Amino acid sequence: TSTAIGAKPMMGFNNWARFTCAAQARLDGTRTGYSFQQFMQDQAKAMKDTGLVAAGYKNLTVDDCWMQRTSAGYLHGAATWGGSSQPGFDFELTDYSNYVHSQGMETGLYSTSGVNTCQGVPGGVLGHEQVDANSLAYWGVDSLKLDNCGTTSSNRQQIFTTMANALKTATANTSRKILFNESAPAGYGPTTAEKYNSMDWVRTLGQMWRVSPDIAVWHGDSASAWNWPHGGDYYEGGVFQNLNDTVALARYNGPGNHNDADMLLIGDNKQLTVAEQRSQFALWSAMGSPLMISSDIRKMAADPTTYAPQLNILKNSDIIAVDQDALGAGGYLASRDNASATAGIDVVVKPLAGGRRAVAVLNKSAASTSYTLDLARVGFGNTSCTRTARDLWNHTNLSVQSSITTTIASHDTAMYTVDPGSCGTPIPVGQIQAP
Ligand code: GLA
Repeated sequence: TSTAIGAKPMMGFNNWARFTCAAQARLDGTRTGYSFQQFMQDQAKAMKDTGLVAAGYKNLTVDDCWMQRTSAGYLHGAATWGGSSQPGFDFELTDYSNYVHSQGMETGLYSTSGVNTCQGVPGGVLGHEQVDANSLAYWGVDSLKLDNCGTTSSNRQQIFTTMANALKTATANTSRKILFNESAPAGYGPTTAEKYNSMDWVRTLGQMWRVSPDIAVWHGDSASAWNWPHGGDYYEGGVFQNLNDTVALARYNGPGNHNDADMLLIGDNKQLTVAEQRSQFALWSAMGSPLMISSDIRKMAADPTTYAPQLNILKNSDIIAVDQDALGAGGYLASRDNASATAGIDVVVKPLAGGRRAVAVLNKSAASTSYTLDLARVGFGNTSCTRTARDLWNHTNLSVQSSITTTIASHDTAMYTVDPGSCGTPIPVGQIQAP
C-alpha cells in the first residue's frame, strides 16, 4: 500500500532557487563535457558525502526546463534550452533514477498543469496526464512537483485531480509510489478566499503544497543579478513573507499533509546572512515545512570547513526532529508584538508528539535583543511547575518554570522544545488565551 508516502515533510535538494534554468545551462562556462545528468548526480553524491543524506535529505528534485515533448507525445530530457546555443538538460532518466537510488536518495521531477511551464517550456501535463504519469513510473521517479502555470482558478482543481489520479493509476501495480507535490494554493495569491477554499481539495490529492511566493532565486554571482520580486530584502520578502503566509494555514498540516514554505537558501547562497539562514531553518522546521535545500552542495562537499556553519544548520538533528515530528502539526503564530518584518519578536509554536511543544523566537529587529518568552503564551499555563526545555542550537537542557529569557541576535531565531514532564498537558494551541 502507499500509506506511508510523504507522511513526514520532504527533505532534500531542489536545483531551482540556486541555479534556475539559465544558470544551469551555463554551468562551468560552456558546460562542455559536463551533462546536466552529471550535474545532478554530482549534487546527489555531494549530498551523501557531506552527510546530508544521512541527516534525512533524501529527495533530489529537478525543477523547470528539463523536458521536451517528442513528436510522439512523450516527455524526454531537453536536448537544448533557450535556443540552440544553450546546452540542454540532457539526461537518460532511467540511468539517472538508478544512480540517485544507489546514493540512498529518491528522485523528483517538475511539470506544470498547463501546456507551457513557468519558463515557457512546452512540457506541461495538460492533455498528457496519463502518458506523463506512466513515463514517471517507468523511469522510477518518486515525486512530481506540479506547478500552476497555464491554469486558472477555474480549471486548476480539475487538472490537479486528473493528474493525482493518473499518478495512482500509473503506480497501481508497482511498489514505488509517486508523491504528489502541488503548487496549487500558491497560485491563488496570498490573501484570497479561493486560496483558503483550495486547501480543502489540495490536501485530498497530494502530500505537500506550496502556500507562499517564490523564495528568491539567484541568477549569477553578482549581487545585482539576483532576482527579487517581492520587495524588501531577502530576509523580509523571503523568510518573513513566507513565514507569514504559512502560519496562516497551520491548521492544514498533518501526517502526509505539509504546507511548503519553499526552498532553503542555506549553503553557498549569498542572499541571507548566517543568522538569517539559522532563522529560515528554525522557522521552517517550526512550521513543519518540507526542507528542500537549493544550494550548490558540490561546493560544500569540496570545502566543508568554509561551509561548516551552513552544514551545521542543515544537520541540526534537534531541529530536524521538530520538523519531522510524528504529530505532523503546523506552526502557529503565538505572539507578534509588531506587524513589521523589521521590528519586534515573532513567536511560532508547533505542538509535538507526547505533549511537547517546539518554540521558535525570531528577532526581527536590527539590534540584538533580550527577550523573555512567557511559556503561558505557548500553552504551558501552570507557572509554578518546573519543566525541561531544550535549547536546540546549543543542544543543552534547561530547567524552566514560567519563562525563558535569552538574547537573540538581529534576524536570528532562538529555538526550544519544552517538555511538560509531570506538569500536565499543555493547553491546545487554539485555546491559549490572550495575555
Ligand atoms: C514557479 C515555482 C518555482 C519554480 C519556477 C520554475 O515560479 O513557484 O518554485 O518551480 O516556477 O519556473
